[in-house]
Amino acid sequence: MLTDYLADARTAIDQQLAQLLARSDCGSYDKLFDAARYALLGGGKRLRPLLLLAAAEGLGAARAAALPAACAVEMIHTYSLVHDDLPCMDDDDFRRGRPSLHRAFPEGLAVLAGDFLLTYAFEVIAINPLLSPATNLQLVTDLAQSAGGHGMIAGQVMDIEAEGKKLDLPAMEAIHRCKTGALISAAVAMGGIAANASAATMEILRSYGNDLGLAFQIADDLLDVAASMAKRGQSSSSDLLNDKMTYVKLMGYDQATETVRRLVGHAKAKLAQLPGDSLPLQALTDMAIQLEG
Ligand code: IPE
Ligand code: IPE
Ligand code: MG
Ligand code: MG
Ligand code: MG
Repeated sequence: MLTDYLADARTAIDQQLAQLLARSDCGSYDKLFDAARYALLGGGKRLRPLLLLAAAEGLGAARAAALPAACAVEMIHTYSLVHDDLPCMDDDDFRRGRPSLHRAFPEGLAVLAGDFLLTYAFEVIAINPLLSPATNLQLVTDLAQSAGGHGMIAGQVMDIEAEGKKLDLPAMEAIHRCKTGALISAAVAMGGIAANASAATMEILRSYGNDLGLAFQIADDLLDVAASMAKRGQSSSSDLLNDKMTYVKLMGYDQATETVRRLVGHAKAKLAQLPGDSLPLQALTDMAIQLEG
Protein backbone atom coordinates (compact mmCIF):
# COMPACT_ATOMS: atom_id res chain seq x y z
CA MET A 1 0.00 0.00 0.00
CA LEU A 2 2.70 2.42 1.12
CA THR A 3 5.05 1.23 -1.61
CA ASP A 4 2.21 1.82 -4.05
CA TYR A 5 1.90 5.40 -2.77
CA LEU A 6 5.61 6.10 -3.21
CA ALA A 7 5.81 4.46 -6.65
CA ASP A 8 2.74 6.37 -7.76
CA ALA A 9 4.07 9.70 -6.45
CA ARG A 10 7.38 9.07 -8.17
CA THR A 11 5.68 8.42 -11.48
CA ALA A 12 3.68 11.64 -11.11
CA ILE A 13 6.90 13.60 -10.42
CA ASP A 14 8.76 12.03 -13.35
CA GLN A 15 5.88 12.68 -15.75
CA GLN A 16 5.51 16.29 -14.68
CA LEU A 17 9.27 16.91 -14.97
CA ALA A 18 9.31 15.42 -18.47
CA GLN A 19 6.37 17.60 -19.43
CA LEU A 20 8.02 20.75 -18.11
CA LEU A 21 11.05 20.12 -20.33
CA ALA A 22 9.10 18.78 -23.28
CA ARG A 23 10.04 21.42 -25.82
CA SER A 24 11.95 24.56 -26.50
CA ASP A 25 10.07 27.55 -27.85
CA CYS A 26 13.23 28.67 -29.67
CA GLY A 27 14.49 25.91 -31.94
CA SER A 28 18.07 27.12 -31.73
CA TYR A 29 18.18 26.31 -28.00
CA ASP A 30 17.24 22.65 -28.42
CA LYS A 31 20.71 21.69 -27.17
CA LEU A 32 20.02 23.46 -23.89
CA PHE A 33 16.82 21.47 -23.41
CA ASP A 34 18.63 18.24 -24.37
CA ALA A 35 21.26 18.94 -21.73
CA ALA A 36 18.66 19.86 -19.09
CA ARG A 37 16.69 16.70 -19.89
CA TYR A 38 19.84 14.57 -19.64
CA ALA A 39 20.49 15.90 -16.14
CA LEU A 40 16.93 16.06 -14.83
CA LEU A 41 15.34 12.97 -16.35
CA GLY A 42 18.32 10.65 -16.01
CA GLY A 43 17.58 8.91 -12.73
CA GLY A 44 17.94 9.99 -9.13
CA LYS A 45 15.97 8.91 -6.09
CA ARG A 46 13.62 11.93 -6.18
CA LEU A 47 13.87 12.13 -2.41
CA ARG A 48 13.17 15.87 -2.10
CA PRO A 49 10.04 16.03 -4.31
CA LEU A 50 8.74 12.85 -2.65
CA LEU A 51 9.21 14.46 0.77
CA LEU A 52 7.35 17.54 -0.42
CA LEU A 53 4.42 15.56 -1.82
CA ALA A 54 4.24 13.23 1.20
CA ALA A 55 4.17 16.20 3.61
CA ALA A 56 1.62 18.10 1.51
CA GLU A 57 -0.74 15.20 0.86
CA GLY A 58 -0.42 13.89 4.42
CA LEU A 59 -1.73 17.28 5.57
CA GLY A 60 -4.61 17.28 3.11
CA ALA A 61 -3.30 19.13 0.01
CA ALA A 62 -4.19 17.90 -3.47
CA ARG A 63 -1.27 16.30 -5.29
CA ALA A 64 -1.75 18.39 -8.43
CA ALA A 65 -1.48 21.60 -6.40
CA ALA A 66 1.81 20.57 -4.76
CA LEU A 67 3.42 18.98 -7.82
CA PRO A 68 4.91 22.17 -9.35
CA ALA A 69 6.75 22.96 -6.10
CA ALA A 70 7.96 19.35 -5.90
CA CYS A 71 9.35 19.60 -9.45
CA ALA A 72 10.96 22.95 -8.62
CA VAL A 73 12.85 21.46 -5.66
CA GLU A 74 14.12 18.61 -7.86
CA MET A 75 15.27 21.17 -10.47
CA ILE A 76 17.22 23.08 -7.84
CA HIS A 77 18.73 19.86 -6.51
CA THR A 78 19.69 18.66 -10.00
CA TYR A 79 21.29 21.99 -10.92
CA SER A 80 23.29 21.82 -7.69
CA LEU A 81 24.59 18.36 -8.67
CA VAL A 82 25.49 19.54 -12.20
CA HIS A 83 27.56 22.38 -10.79
CA ASP A 84 28.93 20.25 -7.91
CA ASP A 85 30.42 17.79 -10.43
CA LEU A 86 32.23 20.44 -12.53
CA PRO A 87 36.04 20.33 -12.75
CA CYS A 88 36.25 23.54 -10.68
CA MET A 89 34.19 21.89 -7.92
CA ASP A 90 34.32 18.15 -7.09
CA ASP A 91 35.43 17.17 -10.59
CA ASP A 92 33.29 14.03 -10.77
CA ASP A 93 32.98 12.19 -14.08
CA PHE A 94 29.93 10.14 -13.13
CA ARG A 95 26.53 11.02 -11.74
CA ARG A 96 23.43 8.88 -11.34
CA GLY A 97 25.25 5.95 -12.92
CA ARG A 98 26.37 7.65 -16.13
CA PRO A 99 28.74 10.36 -17.33
CA SER A 100 28.11 13.65 -15.54
CA LEU A 101 26.57 16.42 -17.61
CA HIS A 102 29.84 18.20 -18.42
CA ARG A 103 31.27 14.88 -19.65
CA ALA A 104 28.27 14.17 -21.90
CA PHE A 105 27.89 17.78 -23.17
CA PRO A 106 30.31 20.71 -23.59
CA GLU A 107 31.23 22.17 -20.21
CA GLY A 108 29.80 25.62 -20.97
CA LEU A 109 26.46 24.10 -21.91
CA ALA A 110 26.48 22.08 -18.68
CA VAL A 111 26.96 25.26 -16.62
CA LEU A 112 24.15 26.97 -18.54
CA ALA A 113 21.79 23.98 -18.26
CA GLY A 114 22.32 24.24 -14.49
CA ASP A 115 21.53 27.97 -14.64
CA PHE A 116 18.41 27.20 -16.68
CA LEU A 117 17.10 24.63 -14.15
CA LEU A 118 17.76 27.05 -11.28
CA THR A 119 15.81 29.85 -12.95
CA TYR A 120 13.03 27.66 -14.28
CA ALA A 121 12.33 26.28 -10.79
CA PHE A 122 11.12 29.66 -9.56
CA GLU A 123 9.02 30.26 -12.68
CA VAL A 124 7.29 26.90 -12.24
CA ILE A 125 6.23 27.78 -8.69
CA ALA A 126 5.28 31.38 -9.45
CA ILE A 127 2.83 30.50 -12.24
CA ASN A 128 1.08 27.59 -10.49
CA PRO A 129 -2.65 28.42 -10.80
CA LEU A 130 -3.72 25.75 -8.29
CA LEU A 131 -2.32 27.62 -5.25
CA SER A 132 -2.99 31.22 -4.22
CA PRO A 133 -0.46 33.93 -5.20
CA ALA A 134 0.33 34.38 -1.48
CA THR A 135 1.12 30.68 -1.09
CA ASN A 136 3.27 30.71 -4.25
CA LEU A 137 5.17 33.71 -2.90
CA GLN A 138 5.81 31.90 0.36
CA LEU A 139 7.06 28.83 -1.53
CA VAL A 140 9.40 30.94 -3.67
CA THR A 141 10.72 32.71 -0.57
CA ASP A 142 11.37 29.48 1.33
CA LEU A 143 13.10 27.86 -1.63
CA ALA A 144 15.24 30.92 -2.40
CA GLN A 145 16.34 31.26 1.22
CA SER A 146 17.27 27.60 1.61
CA ALA A 147 19.04 27.27 -1.75
CA GLY A 148 20.85 30.60 -1.61
CA GLY A 149 23.64 32.44 0.13
CA HIS A 150 22.55 31.51 3.64
CA GLY A 151 21.72 27.91 2.73
CA MET A 152 22.93 25.48 0.08
CA ILE A 153 25.31 27.82 -1.71
CA ALA A 154 26.83 28.97 1.57
CA GLY A 155 27.36 25.29 2.39
CA GLN A 156 28.99 24.61 -0.98
CA VAL A 157 31.36 27.55 -0.44
CA MET A 158 32.26 26.30 3.06
CA ASP A 159 32.71 22.81 1.61
CA ILE A 160 35.29 23.83 -0.99
CA GLU A 161 37.04 26.16 1.44
CA ALA A 162 37.38 23.27 3.89
CA GLU A 163 39.21 21.03 1.39
CA GLY A 164 42.51 19.93 2.83
CA LYS A 165 41.69 21.34 6.27
CA LYS A 166 40.91 19.65 9.54
CA LEU A 167 37.58 20.85 10.95
CA ASP A 168 35.96 20.30 14.31
CA LEU A 169 32.48 18.84 14.72
CA PRO A 170 30.51 22.13 14.93
CA ALA A 171 32.17 23.40 11.72
CA MET A 172 31.52 20.12 9.95
CA GLU A 173 27.90 20.11 11.10
CA ALA A 174 27.41 23.69 9.87
CA ILE A 175 28.60 22.71 6.37
CA HIS A 176 26.33 19.67 6.21
CA ARG A 177 23.30 21.56 7.51
CA CYS A 178 23.77 24.23 4.84
CA LYS A 179 24.90 22.32 1.77
CA THR A 180 22.39 19.47 2.07
CA GLY A 181 20.16 19.95 5.12
CA ALA A 182 18.73 23.30 4.02
CA LEU A 183 17.16 22.02 0.78
CA ILE A 184 15.87 18.80 2.34
CA SER A 185 14.35 20.77 5.18
CA ALA A 186 12.84 23.24 2.70
CA ALA A 187 11.29 20.40 0.69
CA VAL A 188 9.45 19.16 3.77
CA ALA A 189 8.46 22.67 4.86
CA MET A 190 7.21 23.55 1.36
CA GLY A 191 4.88 20.55 1.58
CA GLY A 192 3.45 22.14 4.71
CA ILE A 193 3.14 25.54 3.00
CA ALA A 194 1.29 23.98 0.04
CA ALA A 195 -1.14 22.46 2.56
CA ASN A 196 -1.59 25.72 4.50
CA ALA A 197 -0.23 24.06 7.64
CA SER A 198 -0.44 25.78 11.04
CA ALA A 199 2.61 27.42 12.61
CA ALA A 200 2.90 24.53 15.09
CA THR A 201 2.87 21.96 12.29
CA MET A 202 5.43 23.97 10.31
CA GLU A 203 7.74 23.91 13.33
CA ILE A 204 7.52 20.10 13.55
CA LEU A 205 8.13 19.76 9.79
CA ARG A 206 11.19 22.02 9.86
CA SER A 207 12.67 20.25 12.86
CA TYR A 208 12.12 16.84 11.22
CA GLY A 209 13.66 18.12 7.96
CA ASN A 210 16.71 19.50 9.74
CA ASP A 211 17.49 16.18 11.44
CA LEU A 212 16.83 14.19 8.28
CA GLY A 213 18.95 16.56 6.16
CA LEU A 214 21.99 16.29 8.42
CA ALA A 215 21.59 12.51 8.68
CA PHE A 216 21.32 12.27 4.88
CA GLN A 217 24.62 14.02 4.21
CA ILE A 218 26.45 11.94 6.84
CA ALA A 219 24.98 8.83 5.18
CA ASP A 220 26.19 10.17 1.79
CA ASP A 221 29.70 10.53 3.26
CA LEU A 222 29.47 6.96 4.57
CA LEU A 223 28.37 5.73 1.13
CA ASP A 224 31.24 7.61 -0.50
CA VAL A 225 33.59 5.47 1.54
CA ALA A 226 31.69 2.21 1.45
CA ALA A 227 29.61 2.00 -1.67
CA SER A 228 30.36 0.68 -5.06
CA MET A 229 29.72 2.62 -8.25
CA ALA A 230 26.57 0.56 -8.76
CA LYS A 231 25.07 1.75 -5.52
CA ARG A 232 26.00 5.39 -5.66
CA GLY A 233 26.29 6.08 -9.35
CA GLN A 234 29.49 8.03 -8.75
CA SER A 235 33.07 6.88 -8.69
CA SER A 236 34.25 6.37 -5.16
CA SER A 237 35.88 7.93 -3.41
CA SER A 238 35.41 11.48 -4.59
CA ASP A 239 35.76 12.83 -1.03
CA LEU A 240 39.13 11.16 -0.53
CA LEU A 241 40.45 12.44 -3.86
CA ASN A 242 39.34 15.99 -3.06
CA ASP A 243 40.67 15.76 0.50
CA LYS A 244 37.20 16.59 1.85
CA MET A 245 36.57 16.71 5.55
CA THR A 246 33.69 14.33 6.34
CA TYR A 247 32.02 12.90 9.44
CA VAL A 248 33.70 9.59 8.64
CA LYS A 249 37.14 11.19 8.72
CA LEU A 250 36.28 13.14 11.85
CA MET A 251 34.78 10.44 14.05
CA GLY A 252 35.29 7.13 12.25
CA TYR A 253 32.87 4.92 10.35
CA ASP A 254 31.09 3.34 13.33
CA GLN A 255 30.48 6.53 15.22
CA ALA A 256 29.29 8.33 12.08
CA THR A 257 26.84 5.45 11.52
CA GLU A 258 25.67 5.78 15.12
CA THR A 259 25.16 9.53 14.65
CA VAL A 260 22.94 8.87 11.62
CA ARG A 261 20.87 6.37 13.63
CA ARG A 262 20.43 8.87 16.47
CA LEU A 263 19.36 11.67 14.11
CA VAL A 264 16.91 9.38 12.31
CA GLY A 265 15.44 8.43 15.70
CA HIS A 266 14.91 12.12 16.51
CA ALA A 267 13.42 12.76 13.08
CA LYS A 268 10.93 9.92 13.42
CA ALA A 269 9.93 11.05 16.90
CA LYS A 270 9.04 14.43 15.37
CA LEU A 271 6.87 12.75 12.74
CA ALA A 272 4.89 11.05 15.48
CA GLN A 273 3.75 14.54 16.59
CA LEU A 274 2.36 15.49 13.17
CA PRO A 275 -1.36 15.74 12.50
CA GLY A 276 -2.65 13.89 9.43
CA ASP A 277 -1.08 10.85 7.78
CA SER A 278 2.67 10.71 8.36
CA LEU A 279 3.18 7.11 7.20
CA PRO A 280 4.61 8.07 3.77
CA LEU A 281 7.12 10.38 5.50
CA GLN A 282 8.08 7.56 7.89
CA ALA A 283 8.70 5.27 4.90
CA LEU A 284 10.67 7.97 3.06
CA THR A 285 12.88 8.48 6.10
CA ASP A 286 13.86 4.82 5.98
CA MET A 287 14.30 4.93 2.22
CA ALA A 288 16.55 8.00 2.44
CA ILE A 289 18.91 6.52 4.96
CA GLN A 290 19.88 3.10 3.75
CA LEU A 291 23.28 2.82 5.30
CA GLU A 292 23.99 -0.56 3.85
CA GLY A 293 23.14 0.87 0.42
C1 IPE B 1 23.25 13.65 -3.61
O1 IPE B 1 21.87 13.68 -3.36
C2 IPE B 1 23.90 14.88 -3.12
C3 IPE B 1 23.72 15.16 -1.71
C4 IPE B 1 23.17 16.24 -1.33
C5 IPE B 1 24.18 14.24 -0.70
P1 IPE B 1 20.97 12.42 -3.68
O2 IPE B 1 21.61 11.20 -3.10
O3 IPE B 1 19.58 12.71 -3.25
O4 IPE B 1 21.05 12.33 -5.27
P2 IPE B 1 20.02 11.74 -6.33
O5 IPE B 1 19.00 12.81 -6.57
O6 IPE B 1 19.39 10.49 -5.77
O7 IPE B 1 20.86 11.47 -7.55
C1 IPE C 1 26.70 17.80 -2.51
O1 IPE C 1 27.49 17.21 -1.59
C2 IPE C 1 25.82 18.85 -1.95
C3 IPE C 1 25.25 19.65 -3.06
C4 IPE C 1 25.29 19.35 -4.32
C5 IPE C 1 24.59 20.86 -2.69
P1 IPE C 1 28.47 16.11 -2.19
O2 IPE C 1 29.51 16.73 -3.06
O3 IPE C 1 28.93 15.23 -1.08
O4 IPE C 1 27.45 15.28 -3.10
P2 IPE C 1 27.87 14.06 -4.03
O5 IPE C 1 28.55 13.06 -3.14
O6 IPE C 1 28.77 14.64 -5.10
O7 IPE C 1 26.56 13.55 -4.57
MG1 MG D 1 30.47 18.57 -3.22
MG1 MG E 1 30.20 16.03 -5.01
MG1 MG F 1 29.21 13.08 -1.29
